[in-house]
Amino acid sequence: MPTSLPPAARETLLAAARKTLNRSYARYSNFRVGAAILTDDGEVFTGVNVENASYGLTNCAERSAIFTAVQQSKMAKLSIRAVAVVTAADVPCSPCGACRQVIFEFGDNAVVIFKGQDSNDEDGYLEMSIKDLLPHSFRLS
Ligand code: THU
Repeated sequence: MPTSLPPAARETLLAAARKTLNRSYARYSNFRVGAAILTDDGEVFTGVNVENASYGLTNCAERSAIFTAVQQSKMAKLSIRAVAVVTAADVPCSPCGACRQVIFEFGDNAVVIFKGQDSNDEDGYLEMSIKDLLPHSFRLS
């Protein structure tokens, strides 16, 4: 079962995601996104969206962070505890379907923190389990 992140850890992860925003390469949409991954071992990795003149080649911030973590984590097999997503405009941004599938691959109990359209929290952020965000995720059996 996914466990909610303690408030201090959640703020630390959101701060890491915000810190990396200035690396976002969003020259086409101007929609700058930053993400931070917390591993089950307590490591933190960040990523930004990286766009391309051939629009479909764009990589989202979440997947950028995860791909960095896959390469750099000390864990033998990356295991994601939490993902935080922020935008420079401080507007709602829930992870796209592709990123949900990639998060699930490395953290089937991960929690995802993002600004939602319908949050009850004062700061507008939602925390949801990846299983709720992506029911019936694809698996190779
Ligand atoms: N984007 C992300 O990086 N993460 C999301 O969760 C949603 C969208 C990026 C992709 C593109 O560079 C820009 O936001 C506009 O779609």
